[in-house]
Amino acid sequence: ETEKTLAIIKPDGVSGNYTNSIKETILDHGFKITEELFIQLDEDHVKSFYAEHSSRSFFPSLVEYMASGPVLIMVLEKGNAIADWRALIGPTDPLKAKVTHPYSVRAICGLDLQKNCVHGSDSPQSAAQEITFFVERTSSGHY
Ligand code: CMP
Repeated sequence: ETEKTLAIIKPDGVSGNYTNSIKETILDHGFKITEELFIQLDEDHVKSFYAEHSSRSFFPSLVEYMASGPVLIMVLEKGNAIADWRALIGPTDPLKAKVTHPYSVRAICGLDLQKNCVHGSDSPQSAAQEITFFVERTSSGHY
């Protein structure tokens, strides 16, 4: 049964010119890209998107980074999309991913624990929330 997840190519991924190769990887793995949104987020959008991390010491820096340049937001669809996209991107820290998951997207494209190139929803609940946050809100003009 088909499932949706939210993928983001973060500012370092966009500026590092990884967009086309990441999209190719996504399609090669059987996902459909059903929505695409190329946007520059402002700090308030990032703060509410990452609200669950608001008490962490890295939060201010994360907010600044995610608002530092355009991102590509995509909805990916296929069976088991949430877990499969998380598996494809690899561990949060690209430096660890290079050792343990050398063919993962973050191992190949990520720079460090913060500039880790891509995002993926971590559960069905967050996928639904994140898709609503970006796609449904933006396309209805309430952004
Ligand atoms: P993501 O999986 O999109 O979700 C939260 C983001 O915060 C994460 O990717 C990284 O970009 C960033 N992040 C997570 N942990 C840390 C950390 N310890 N230090 C700096 N940034 C982090």
